[in-house]
This record gives sequence, C-alpha cells and structure tokens, in this order.
Amino acid sequence: LNKPSFVLSDEERHEIEHALTHYPDGRAASIDALKAVQKHRGWVPDDAIPVIAAAIGISAADLEGVATFYSLIFRRPVGRHVIKVCDSISCHLTGYDELRDELEKQLGIRYGQTTKDGRYTLLPICCLGACDRGATMMIDDDLHGPVEPKDVAAILGGYQ
Ligand code: FES
Repeated sequence: LNKPSFVLSDEERHEIEHALTHYPDGRAASIDALKAVQKHRGWVPDDAIPVIAAAIGISAADLEGVATFYSLIFRRPVGRHVIKVCDSISCHLTGYDELRDELEKQLGIRYGQTTKDGRYTLLPICCLGACDRGATMMIDDDLHGPVEPKDVAAILGGYQ
C-alpha cells in the first residue's frame, strides 16, 4: 500500500486560494502558497509539492524549482526557532565570523542543523537589508543587530 499522500488542511487551502487572488497567475503565487503550508507545519515536505502545485495550477517541477531556490522555504523539519545569520559582505566586515562561531559554540550545531531539544535551527542568509546594523541575524521574524558575541546568550534566552 502507498503511504497516504499529503492533504492540504482547509485552512491551508483557503490561504492558498487567497494568495491566488493577489497575483496574476499561479506561478506568481508560488512562494505565498509554499509559505501558507510552512506556516502551519513549520516546513514543506516533499509530498506536499505536487499537491500545492495542483492547487495553484503549475507543474510540480516548477514549484519544486521555486521551493529549492528560495532559502526561506524549509524542506526539512526545523526547530521551534529559526536563526538566520547574515553572511553577506557588510556583515563580514562587522563581526560575522565571531557571531557565527559564538552561535555554533553555544548551540552545539552548525549551519543546516537543529539542536537536539528541537529549540533552534541555524542557517545562513543573504543580506537582511540592515547593513548599517551588522553583524545581523534574524530569529523567527525578529531582526537583531548589531550583535556581538557577548550578546548572544541573552538574545537566545528570549526564545524558549
Ligand atoms: Fe548583513 Fe546587509 S550584509 S545586513
């Protein structure tokens, strides 16, 4: 027997239909549709791709391309909080290496990994658009910066 395939919840389907009303076509609504599922499940499993693609009327291959390219769509389970560290040029000049090292040390994980307690996932990200506040990182939807290594423990403490 095949495993039961992915089924959109009523809420997810409603949000995807809502996204479609904001864009000229399904392709343009791709990211919003993926985000609708991610919002409810924390990430987007592989078997969700053909179902979401059908809901917005594009091919699964096209949607897979978008989902792979766009780094804020998570394709594996993530922790309760996702930490994204800006690794673009300005932040490299304002303490990126030290910040990443401190996060890796305190969390005991590297990029792409999740802490054993399921609390944090650590990822790099391109410029967050706050270059004057480097070194920057985002935790969930919150921008932090400038962050020095000595600030890390207190900031992490705010995210249980
Ligand atoms: Fe880090 Fe722009 S380079 S916010």
